[in-house]
Amino acid sequence: MSAKVTFWPSGVGIEVKPGTSVLSAARKAGVLIQTRCGGNAACFMCKVKVRPGSDLMPIADEERRKLAGLEAEGYRLACQAKARGQVEVDVPLDPLRAAVQKLLAKQAEENDDLW
Ligand code: FES
Repeated sequence: MSAKVTFWPSGVGIEVKPGTSVLSAARKAGVLIQTRCGGNAACFMCKVKVRPGSDLMPIADEERRKLAGLEAEGYRLACQAKARGQVEVDVPLDPLRAAVQKLLAKQAEENDDLW
């Protein structure tokens, strides 16, 4: 039996062994999830939003403590969340990419105003 993790917005998915962390699955699939602590639940940068219906192993107390309530909104730490079956997660844009996209969108809006 295997698990499958699909990452959004790219839609890239990968089959993994049950118990594989979402972060490991992302690395195998070539999906970038920012980290700074190397998967030790310390940096909080690997936060992803899990889509409803996803089948993950139960959340551990340590991860729950780190998330401080965000787990109720569907957030999990990719380095701690382990796939059990079908899993779909939304990967937030890294802050630099998000800033560049916002700037480009603003620039495009301004260019439209010229016409
Ligand atoms: S990789 Fe740092 S908290 Fe998950």
